Amino acid sequence: MLKNNPLWYKNAIFYEVHLRSFCDSNGDGKGDLPGLTTKLDYLKELGVDCIWLLPMFPSPLNDDGYDIADYDNIHPDYGTVEDFKTLVAEAHARGMRIVADLVLNHTSDQHAWFVESRKSKDNPYRDYYVWSDTDQKYTDARIIFVDTEPSNWTLDEATGEYYWHRFYASQPDLNYDNPEVADKMIDILKYWMDMGIDGFRADAVPYLFEREGTNCENLPETHAYLKRVRRVLDQDYPGTILLGEANQWPWDLRPYFGGDEADLTAPGDEFHMAFHFPVMPRIYKALKLGDTTDILDIMDRTPSIPDNCQWCVFLRNHDEVTLEMVTEEDRQLMWKLYAPEDRMRLNLGIRRRLAPLLDNDRRKIEVANAILFSLPGAPIVYYGDEIGMGDNIWLFDRNGVRTPMQWTAEPGTGFSSAEPWAPVIDDDTYGYQKINVAAQQADPESLFHTMKHFIATRKAHPILGWGRCDFLRVENKAVLAYLRRTGEGQMLIVCNLSDQPQEVTLSLPEFRGVTPQDVLTGQAHNIISDEYTLSLGAYQYYWFDLSGTT
Ligand code: GLC
Repeated sequence: MLKNNPLWYKNAIFYEVHLRSFCDSNGDGKGDLPGLTTKLDYLKELGVDCIWLLPMFPSPLNDDGYDIADYDNIHPDYGTVEDFKTLVAEAHARGMRIVADLVLNHTSDQHAWFVESRKSKDNPYRDYYVWSDTDQKYTDARIIFVDTEPSNWTLDEATGEYYWHRFYASQPDLNYDNPEVADKMIDILKYWMDMGIDGFRADAVPYLFEREGTNCENLPETHAYLKRVRRVLDQDYPGTILLGEANQWPWDLRPYFGGDEADLTAPGDEFHMAFHFPVMPRIYKALKLGDTTDILDIMDRTPSIPDNCQWCVFLRNHDEVTLEMVTEEDRQLMWKLYAPEDRMRLNLGIRRRLAPLLDNDRRKIEVANAILFSLPGAPIVYYGDEIGMGDNIWLFDRNGVRTPMQWTAEPGTGFSSAEPWAPVIDDDTYGYQKINVAAQQADPESLFHTMKHFIATRKAHPILGWGRCDFLRVENKAVLAYLRRTGEGQMLIVCNLSDQPQEVTLSLPEFRGVTPQDVLTGQAHNIISDEYTLSLGAYQYYWFDLSGTT
């Protein structure tokens, strides 16, 4: 059963599920809700606390479900509303939570509102979307899907006017200046919350409102609306969360938590959590160059957030590795380093999975996860990354990182008894014959077991969820070192991000006489004097508990 802790998300392990690719229960080649329900014990074994489900609603799937045609139902491929309720009940029975995706910014062009809206200029639904007789409005707004969309406006022949869309042209933006739209979206939120879910990952939130002369992102009107959404959750569904997807710089993200910037004990009143986008590409850059400078720099420039809020940190998700929050120079560098083939690039990012990005080098994959599970924030694991799944850059859009979960070495990978909706990974390195859950569960040395160990160790040390974080300034740029601390204790994380052995000297006068113990291996190290010198092998990492004095 669920424990009644309203701050549960501060130290939760999140897991992102792409329903279509997770487990097919009815033999149609597409993953579904009952399939996921049969895999809850697996997620429990891994140590997952909260599952984030990608959009599961009826949709033409032009953007894999982020183009919603009907907010009140489940896509027939995935099952029924009853199946969803069963999933929620079964997850709760195992002490796990479920957050769904809330797509506020836009609908599909197949949604009944848009079908009506485009019929005529005086249709009662016209004002549900953003129409204009010119495409020269809001010209300061950037285009997000740069590979496919020439403009944020598309001309609709029927009425000779343009409609506004921040993503694909088949995803018209809703008009939040229309109070009816603003209200209807709250009704939708309540409809799903009433089924007992634990909150939402709120999609693409910076773009809800448009104002001339701005870049149409992070506007005050947007924050005001999101605060209203939060009030509904607080009043009617206490203990549930809003996790915001705002791909922004940390200082632009800070307002999404709300509260009082001068007083962190004042509760945040907007999002409980937000993804920390900018740190992610910097971890990859640091690993390639053996230089931690950019991680330190972005964490330095990350503002403090209210005590009741939390970052969500991730290494990969269902999208491309976004390079929006890096400089143009770094974007070129990252493409050169990580996307040598054209097909690997998409929009302003890289469509590859974690293991291939890290050369399938177990040491690199481990050290990246050692950082993920110890940085400030709650970590999220993208399905399949716990076993080191590969990708297929030849598939459409981002489907190459959304291929069927590899459960077993059997044909169909234990995912489906039918031909899967997308080809399973079948190459020598990452093929399901070699990389699959069953094989890794049976092998105590597997990545799966290491991930399970990271998660269990993190949970045994709540400092990693709750503690503040102080980065140590060390001369050796290849080594990342930081202290996590609460009133109850301190931990020291040290990671070598280079492919060479490194020595590092840390200044730790306040810990003189302490014997650091690596909580991942149980091994005790030398007593700390004012200075502490450590040798690390290539990509080696330590999670030291600093409470031991013997
Ligand atoms: C978010 C989703 C992405 C989707 C976009 C438009 O960024 O993560 O997959 O394409 O929103 O809804």
